Amino acid sequence: MQPKLIIHGGAGSSLRGKGGEEAVRTALFDAIDKVYALLKAGSSAKEAVVLGCRLMEDNPRFNAGTGSVLQSDGQIRMSASLMDGLIQRFSGVINVSRVKNPIELAQFLQEGSDRVLSDNGAAELLRELGKPIYDPLTDIRLQEWMAERNNNFSHEMAGVIAEPELASEPGRGTIGVVALDSEGRLAVGTSTGGKGFERIGRVSDSATPAGNYANAHAAVSCTGIGEDIIDECLAARIVVRVTDGLPLGEAMGRSFQEAGSRQRDFGAIALSHDGTISWGKTSEVLLAAYHTGDAKGDTLSLDTGVVTGFC
Ligand code: GLY
Repeated sequence: MQPKLIIHGGAGSSLRGKGGEEAVRTALFDAIDKVYALLKAGSSAKEAVVLGCRLMEDNPRFNAGTGSVLQSDGQIRMSASLMDGLIQRFSGVINVSRVKNPIELAQFLQEGSDRVLSDNGAAELLRELGKPIYDPLTDIRLQEWMAERNNNFSHEMAGVIAEPELASEPGRGTIGVVALDSEGRLAVGTSTGGKGFERIGRVSDSATPAGNYANAHAAVSCTGIGEDIIDECLAARIVVRVTDGLPLGEAMGRSFQEAGSRQRDFGAIALSHDGTISWGKTSEVLLAAYHTGDAKGDTLSLDTGVVTGFC
């Protein structure tokens, strides 16, 4: 079957008129092109997801890997997870530091019997694998944290998307990739630096089944306020609805209507086994792009409010 792909680079307040939209679109399409080429060449959904996450983690405009936000103590702690829909297997790392690509740790853990590691365990795994020590800190994130410190941490979270003054280096957000390969296998990966300025030890949704979930029927990656995503158990909720027979577009629509009524702030991207691509958001903007096999599209210009869609 024709492979399908959707990726996101975060959700948050609107980019409209702020100068960052085109740069974010270019970054998303660049990643889509590379990952879709791999799928087209016959790679598995899981391999494609890992490549997509790595590319997005390496792009400093997104809040994952290089360019991750800083927590309240000025340290970076990243989380990432990978789920193989075919065998319904989740793996991930929570609050890991000093690694270039957290998704590669999640990938390694797919094969083990202990599949989710937190800070100390993830650091030990890094040593075991001989991964070089890497500092994901960027100047923009350091400046952002220093400004917040001077302001007594008045914001609840760091910027997750492009800001006007960052037009030359715009766009930051949690990242996620969902793929359906030519053999009909689904996989999903999500990676984040967290909200920024959070309490030490706060755990993101991105390495939980609330933020990243897949089975043979559907796969979903979430972005936005992790606490809201966990309260809705969003990714697993959508996947279970599809598993129980609801078409993906309807599963997204129903889940986002419910979330909107509870004033949640997040977005999600999804694929189902029949090749339907879908997205949804309660936040102002969802930075997502997709490839249907025939055409590319994005969600950068959706209306404000609760919006879901599919193709
Ligand atoms: N969704 C990313 C976070 O809240 O940490």
